[in-house]
Amino acid sequence: MAFFNRKKPEHTDISSIEMPAHVGIIMDGNGRWAKKRGLPRSAGHTAGAQVFRKIARYCNNIGIKYLTVYAFSTENWRRPEKEINALMKLFKEYLEEALRDFRDDCIVMRFIGDRSAFSPALLELMEENEEIAKDREGMVLNIAMNYGGRAELITAIQKIADDVRNDKFSADQIDEQMISDYLYTKGQPDPDLIIRPSGEHRTSNFLLWQSAYSEYVIMDVLWPDFTEEHLNQALIEYANRNRRFGGV
Ligand code: IPE
Ligand code: IPE
Ligand code: MG
Repeated sequence: MAFFNRKKPEHTDISSIEMPAHVGIIMDGNGRWAKKRGLPRSAGHTAGAQVFRKIARYCNNIGIKYLTVYAFSTENWRRPEKEINALMKLFKEYLEEALRDFRDDCIVMRFIGDRSAFSPALLELMEENEEIAKDREGMVLNIAMNYGGRAELITAIQKIADDVRNDKFSADQIDEQMISDYLYTKGQPDPDLIIRPSGEHRTSNFLLWQSAYSEYVIMDVLWPDFTEEHLNQALIEYANRNRRFGGV
């Protein structure tokens, strides 16, 4: 990792750092984790889902206000049917458990992405989780399911075009704030920090608009092996970065 853009003095533990308001996590590496153990890819997803639950709770406990996890992308439909079916089954199990699980943590569940592709049963669980949690006061947990940054922008542009056609406003009134307000993350701060385990150096279509000035921390750990300590390391790395937003 390059250290050119570090602040001084360096932070070495999380007790002294200013928490990022919004953290994004690309939960990647489940398949490789399973392969290393001679297991089917679905076993990696099962292990990854357990880590998701633990890390979501931890983020809430340490005072992160918004957490967005990338669970399934618009491109993940390209995977073999067997893997997709296993993932859908896992989502269903987790969303059933989440109705109870996140209650004591006061976590507010939200889903971002195009829901139209999911089964009625899964859709109902997503809506139920959102409804049951809407008055809670803890961390907002966005689960990105059938999410793609480009698809999100296309949907936003179509809605804006409709509103221009219906004379709600004129095209020259479109600005950054308006575009943000047409995205799934409307009303939420942009992610300060995006963590990508599994060592891949790419966005894979995650929060394209919102991540314009996010700090990326790429980690050489597969998601099912990710622990609270890895999250702490990413937070410390983030705290030692010098964010300039184009200034000096
Ligand atoms: C991330 O892990 C989970 C999903 C994309 C659903 P992967 O399944 O992409 O794991 P790798 O990258 O193949 O190891
Ligand atoms: C990104 O991981 C999507 C999720 C983690 C849900 P992928 O495994 O799909 O990304 P690529 O294919 O390596 O870019
Ligand atoms: Mg992957």
